[in-house]
Amino acid sequence: MPKILLIFGTRPEAIKMAPVYKILKDSSEFETKVAVTAQHREMLDQVLKLFNITPDYDLNLMTPRQTLQDLTSRALLGLSEVLEDCQPDLVLVHGDTTTTFVGALAAFYKKIPVGHVEAGLRTRNKYSPWPEEMNRRLTGALTDLHFAPTKTSRENLLREGVLPENIFVTGNTVIDALYYTVRENYRFAPELEAILNRPGRIILMTTHRRENWGEPLKNIYRGLLKVLEEAADVRVIFPVHKNPVVREAVREVIGEHPRVHLVEPLDYEPFANLMARSYLVLTDSGGIQEEAPSLGKPVLVLRDTTERPEAVEAGTVRLIGSGTEAVYKNLKELLFDESSYRKMANAINPYGDGKASLRIYRALKYYYKIDSSPPEEFSL
Ligand code: UD1
Ligand code: UDP
Repeated sequence: MPKILLIFGTRPEAIKMAPVYKILKDSSEFETKVAVTAQHREMLDQVLKLFNITPDYDLNLMTPRQTLQDLTSRALLGLSEVLEDCQPDLVLVHGDTTTTFVGALAAFYKKIPVGHVEAGLRTRNKYSPWPEEMNRRLTGALTDLHFAPTKTSRENLLREGVLPENIFVTGNTVIDALYYTVRENYRFAPELEAILNRPGRIILMTTHRRENWGEPLKNIYRGLLKVLEEAADVRVIFPVHKNPVVREAVREVIGEHPRVHLVEPLDYEPFANLMARSYLVLTDSGGIQEEAPSLGKPVLVLRDTTERPEAVEAGTVRLIGSGTEAVYKNLKELLFDESSYRKMANAINPYGDGKASLRIYRALKYYYKIDSSPPEEFSL
């Protein structure tokens, strides 16, 4: 029985790997193991608990204000020991984090094949997102099986010389996780329920990208506060990333505001259901750019580039950068111009149909010659 080791370490990787883990763990064809670097700690544990995942290996690497260099070197040594002990036949990594790249590198050093979930997304700008664009490209160079979420991501890989037979277009597993989690009758914890029960519209907001650390974050918050002065019915729910760099900027510019509810990072279940209940989403997150469109929520993306062009092309996501005026103007437009809002508030599913993990499972069976044909690919 092939032994598959899933390696991940941050909140978004865990959310997007959970459906893959479930299907492999329940299968009779594979032995499935999980190693977490715990590049994130609390934010990872929230997801492990929700999806009932008990890691076989936990490197517990996170330190406050960890640097890329320090985390990378400690993860490489830690994961190499895990591979030595576990002896997997294949390693599965996800996305573009330090854990992803180092997981693939550690596997390569041991000549273990690598499967890359969410492969092929590109901005083609080495420094944006930084370091994620290069993490994803370097992981791609070390990968044997590329699970590309969309046709666009497959084309990116083909252009780089990846052989077509090594690419499977699966859809993004984030949509599998979302379908599993969002329910119409979802009940929030009392504090959130109380905020939601007040009249008015809700903006759901998150920020964390390295490119936005410092002045850009502050400018974003200034733009938000400016529009709140004019939009008296609007409340903001802002689950603040655990990163102290983000928290300092929030404290300095937003401080205490009666209509900005600063909360701890939410568990994925309330967060996803809150997205479904909000009026619009303001974020620099990658995953949220994929989730919110499928819930019909306009997304203003606080970045200059995106490796996820599909929803931008479909018109439900808009890249606005991180300037105070851009944040103010775009929010104002969506809050006060009904027709602009309606144009963006369309439910579209360019990223998946909820069957991505099933396709990955089938592709693995095909790779191991358990199945004679590859899975049907995801198409819109
Ligand atoms: C990382 C990923 C980024 C991903 C993001 C998701 C890299 C280089 N970056 O960025 O691609 O979009 O995760 O959120 O891999 N912290 C805690 N508790 C937690 C999590 C983080 O206290 O549960 C704090 C720690 O002080 C930690 C810091 O946040 O040192 C930064 O964490 P890190 O994983 O290095 O960077 P992120 O900005 O979270
Ligand atoms: N998310 C969450 N709780 C929060 C904020 C976000 O569960 O308080 C989820 C969100 O639904 C998405 C993922 O975390 O699935 C995105 O993570 P993040 O923005 O940290 O990373 P990125 O996607 O940018 O790599």
